[in-house]
Amino acid sequence: MITIIQKPTDSVGDNSTRMVAEELTKTGVPYQFIDIDAIDPLSGTCSGELIWVCGIRQDEHQFEVINALSVDNQVINSPESIFTCASKVKTSALLQKMGIKTPETLFTASVEIAARFIEKHRLVVYKPVYGYDGNGICLISSVGELGKGPYYLQEYVPNKQDYRIFVINGKSVGAIVRRSDSLAHNIHQCGIGIPCEIDMDMDTIAGEAAMAVGVDYGGVDLLNDKEGYTVLEVNGTPNWHCMSAPIPKLLAAYLVTKKSQSRC
Ligand SMILES: Nc1ncnc2c1ncn2[C@@H]1O[C@H](COP(=O)(O)OP(=O)(O)O)[C@@H](O)[C@H]1O
Ligand SMILES: [Mg+2]
Repeated sequence: MITIIQKPTDSVGDNSTRMVAEELTKTGVPYQFIDIDAIDPLSGTCSGELIWVCGIRQDEHQFEVINALSVDNQVINSPESIFTCASKVKTSALLQKMGIKTPETLFTASVEIAARFIEKHRLVVYKPVYGYDGNGICLISSVGELGKGPYYLQEYVPNKQDYRIFVINGKSVGAIVRRSDSLAHNIHQCGIGIPCEIDMDMDTIAGEAAMAVGVDYGGVDLLNDKEGYTVLEVNGTPNWHCMSAPIPKLLAAYLVTKKSQSRC
């Protein structure tokens, strides 16, 4: 039995969880849903399962429930990797440590240090540390534009588009190019996604980024600068909006394989 935690943002017209569940049905592997707001993970009633987290709310309760469940169950993606992806700071630290190309980034509570970084780069991107969907991202060109710290600032990489690569088990299986009239090309910021080819460099860097943050599967955001691809972040509970690759089928097949390999 595969146990599924439904993505809280699923809607009738955009239901990621159902798309994968329908593919699981075709495989004949049984599955069930759990509502993590309606269980006690300490009760011991859920153990020895393979649990697929399609999505969670970024709040203390849901984080802690999957964390506790992972003690006695195999949770995909692992809570550690979902937390890592949620934190832009931890993600940057891991990308840097693994030597994976990423824009120059600063994290500080010091206005003075932030000011020096802005002076050096002239144009920087401010991002909320636990931000998502392009929310709260803005361009900063002077220290006076900064609000309250701490500051996660990144050199601005001039671009007309970005890329979202869907990676499963270290392999890039789908990609889109996203374009918009704003700084953040996210679909949730009215970006338009168009399926694109996965070239070798894209495949390599996206796979490496996913491995660096420890996800089984993830959505890797890339920009292209003069020297090639550079990684912005990895999403641990990604969507596959606008992708032409059969992501739900591939994800279901991956879960079935993991289930058959597990002792659950
Ligand atoms: N350093 C940067 N230079 C230029 N554009 C950026 C930079 N960082 C982010 N962006 C734009 O903002 C979008 C959202 O940034 P990202 O780091 O992926 O955060 P989020 O979690 O909000 O999606 C990116 O997909 C890209 O279009
Ligand atoms: Mg992103």
